Amino acid sequence: MSQSKLGLKINGKDYTLDADPKMPVLWAIRDLLGLTGTKYGCGAGLCGACTIHVDGEPARACLTSLKQVQGKQVTTIEGLAADGLKQAWRDNNVPQCGYCQAGQLMSAAALLSQYPQPNDAQIEEAMVGNLCRCGTYTRIKAAIKQASGTAAQLDLNKRDLSEREIEA
Ligand code: FES
Ligand code: FES
Repeated sequence: MSQSKLGLKINGKDYTLDADPKMPVLWAIRDLLGLTGTKYGCGAGLCGACTIHVDGEPARACLTSLKQVQGKQVTTIEGLAADGLKQAWRDNNVPQCGYCQAGQLMSAAALLSQYPQPNDAQIEEAMVGNLCRCGTYTRIKAAIKQASGTAAQLDLNKRDLSEREIEA
């Protein structure tokens, strides 16, 4: 591996790394910089657990090299503002094991920055590459709609209520 001095801008902070330009950003942010909120799932661009933003666009950190982000702004879950979205995630009790959720939030935040009030098809298209082994998809959709000011959350709450009534 050939090492180089590489400049990185992550969450608004400048870093210089002695690293191979071909190294995936995922390894650099987790192993060299200790930003472990971004998760390693498949390593092949298939699960979305490693989703970050590069210049505001969602990107798979496992497939994006350090060379590709030179001169660009990288944002990880640690630097994501999106307070309304995070609150909607809490309100809808979205995470189960939580492993996929950083990637889910990054994709959802990128979607809302492009479409502040996305329709179902836009949500599905934006989120289809983020897999969740725990099956939190309905809650993710409700949280995105809450954050965007559209009202699907009521349906989810109603369903939860009737499920509880059935159990009782
Ligand atoms: S770890 Fe990057 S897409 Fe799965
Ligand atoms: S919350 Fe467990 S994998 Fe998504």
